[in-house]
Amino acid sequence: MENQSFVMPRIGEPAPEFTANTTQGKINFPADFTGKWIILFSHPADFTPVCTSEFITFGSMQADFEKLNCQLVGLSIDGLASHIAWLREIRKIEWKEFKNIDVEFPLIDDVSMNVARKYGMLQPGESETKAVRAVFFIDPKGMVRAMIYYPLSLGRNFDELKRVLVALQTSDNFRVSMPADWRPGDPVIVPAPSTMEALKKRDSGKEDGVTCHSWWFCTRKLSKEEVESKLGNK
Ligand code: BEZ
Repeated sequence: MENQSFVMPRIGEPAPEFTANTTQGKINFPADFTGKWIILFSHPADFTPVCTSEFITFGSMQADFEKLNCQLVGLSIDGLASHIAWLREIRKIEWKEFKNIDVEFPLIDDVSMNVARKYGMLQPGESETKAVRAVFFIDPKGMVRAMIYYPLSLGRNFDELKRVLVALQTSDNFRVSMPADWRPGDPVIVPAPSTMEALKKRDSGKEDGVTCHSWWFCTRKLSKEEVESKLGNK
């Protein structure tokens, strides 16, 4: 496979642009979604079991992501006719607590592999003919903010994808970082003091609501309600 297959987007850089046909019509990416968060994700192939379980799960969460001002966009290197037939079949499947799932987000036809190449979704060590399970979080300005890759055999955890989106939005809105395993309502990490005066205040232990676990590791409370009141905001 050509070297081009190994090009990867990078965190903090603009999301690679493309136009594509999808199950919801033609899209100009990411421009058509400016002002929204985007989760662009690839799956190896239509009509396969792990991918089907993923689409049912993601499809069942569409309203959650909409509330978070987030557009979901799927992709595989199958064509439009296959995508449409597969989504129609998915609607008929009953699995776990799910049934009648209508996948309403666009699913890209990438038979040409144009998009898969631009996004480093083709990883020949895993498969020469299928895209791996890649996930890109793109912010309302079209910048790549996080990426996760899974192999063919492992279905993604969609609660984790939602957690990542919520964490990125919370970080932007409150200028804080999130410790390991953070969930809304948990303490957040405050930035290091940027002046001597601020440092003195922190050292004195008199900074309102801030708890220091070491001088470089300080947290504060951020309630779930405060987080939820800001989520999805641009
Ligand atoms: C699946 O979705 O089940 C799958 C797809 C490609 C390779 C292996 C598994």
